[in-house]
Amino acid sequence: MADQPIIKLRDGNMMPQLGLGVWQASVEEARNAALKALEVGYRSIDTAAIYENEEGVGQALQQTDVARENIFVTTKLWNEDQLNWQQAIESSLKKLQLEYVDLYLMHWPCPEKDNYVKAWQGMIELQQQGLTKSIGVCNFQEKHLKRLIDETGVTPVINQVELHPMLQQRELHAWNAMHQIQTESWSPLAQGGKGVFDRDVIKQLAKKYGKTPAQVVIRWHLDSGLVVIPKSVTPSRIEENFHVFDFRLEKTEISEIAKMDSGTRLGPHPDELN
Ligand SMILES: NC(=O)c1ccc[n+]([C@@H]2O[C@H](COP(=O)([O-])OP(=O)(O)OC[C@H]3O[C@@H](n4cnc5c(N)ncnc54)[C@H](OP(=O)(O)O)[C@@H]3O)[C@@H](O)[C@H]2O)c1
Repeated sequence: MADQPIIKLRDGNMMPQLGLGVWQASVEEARNAALKALEVGYRSIDTAAIYENEEGVGQALQQTDVARENIFVTTKLWNEDQLNWQQAIESSLKKLQLEYVDLYLMHWPCPEKDNYVKAWQGMIELQQQGLTKSIGVCNFQEKHLKRLIDETGVTPVINQVELHPMLQQRELHAWNAMHQIQTESWSPLAQGGKGVFDRDVIKQLAKKYGKTPAQVVIRWHLDSGLVVIPKSVTPSRIEENFHVFDFRLEKTEISEIAKMDSGTRLGPHPDELN
């Protein structure tokens, strides 16, 4: 299989373009999924304090033969802890059995509470303490990002947002790119492919390349320059989702998938979650 693509973040750190997500997995499922993923070649795992499965990821990191420095671990600062960043990261690190994470993300801006600039200043301190290599955000829109940059001078390396063929976020992706902020797709498979895997364009491309609809969708994220973290706790799917480095979509095929954008959100709008 061809080598997996690695992205250089704006702070110089390197991140695999494809990783495993573990939202909604139990501790045991997260451990088994992470172990399986590391065995088939994944080198990036995305968890969060609120997923309550950091212990499971930590157990997998202890059990695997893959060296710590070769694994990119992401976790997230939960909304209730925005002003409690120090204890929050220390609690996550304890559960993960790690001295540092590779990426710490603010989970949501929660604009009504208006604490996200302060929380970002806290995250800058955590990076200076060496508790996280890189810092970024999730679910930020242009206006939220502008405030962080204007008021702290520090630009997030990542903006992780809901992104799949039904919600392509092209304007935000372009704005992020202009500021060297890497866009990362959450719910990249539209949470199991409903409304995506059964569309003719996806089915035809799957047939053409001898791939599954999920593989075509993951390839679309990669070919669109996105970091992508499909979640699965099913060993065969974890493997399937990684076997995407031996084909590429053509520009015209990407344009066909562009027509699937209906602005359909599966999760909350960032302005409405507080
Ligand atoms: N920052 C945020 O606010 C935020 C929000 C949501 C998610 N995330 C992150 O993004 C990750 C991915 O998003 P997600 O979990 O919402 O959804 P997703 O990755 O789009 O879809 C996951 C669902 O698809 C199924 N699936 C996986 N591979 C498949 C395949 N090859 N064929 C058919 N079905 C397949 C999984 O089932 P099985 O597990 O049963 O195999 C699961 O039900 C999360 O795990 C989390 O790490 C972040």
